[in-house]
Amino acid sequence: MRNMITAGIVACAMALTGCSQSGDAPDEGQMIAQEQAQVAALEGDAELVERGERLFSSCSVCHSIDSDVPSPAGPHLEFVVGRGVGGVEDYPYSPALTGSADLWTVDNLGNFLRNPQEAYPGTAMAFAGIEDDADRQAVIAYLATLTGSDE
Ligand code: HEC
Repeated sequence: MRNMITAGIVACAMALTGCSQSGDAPDEGQMIAQEQAQVAALEGDAELVERGERLFSSCSVCHSIDSDVPSPAGPHLEFVVGRGVGGVEDYPYSPALTGSADLWTVDNLGNFLRNPQEAYPGTAMAFAGIEDDADRQAVIAYLATLTGSDE
């Protein structure tokens, strides 16, 4: 989990695509540390995770949380936090996601789950979005705990 995030953020920092709006060179170490701290704070908040797990019932109609269990529709969401967008091998993503070099950081997941069509126009995810900020945070906190059955 941590290694995936670290590798991803480093790749992102090196590619410099949409990671930093400013002209200053981003401090890679600081970016990684900030993302890790954000993820740790979310997944460490038991109450928030529990709330997110309840809200996830609107996602589980389509998404499995286990790479060994087929999803009804959509890719599985195991290890999704820190994963590359469109990153599940063999899943037939729409071009909206396959064409992206982004990562599912906490912020990017927040944008996507607020309004999937606005974040990735043309995405095949038929879901209106979660308007409430706190509900979205809760779902992301729950997603951050989906680190496989061996952890
Ligand atoms: C009606 C079915 C459906 C529902 C409901 C749904 N999704 Fe999806 N989701 C999809 C499909 C299909 C895709 C693939 C989209 C594409 O290829 O453009 C997807 C993609 C995603 C991705 C991108 C994964 C990746 O590997 O890049 C995330 C994250 C995600 N969904 C999270 C959620 C969450 C969290 C919820 C609940 C709040 C949710 N989805 C509800 C069908 C659904």
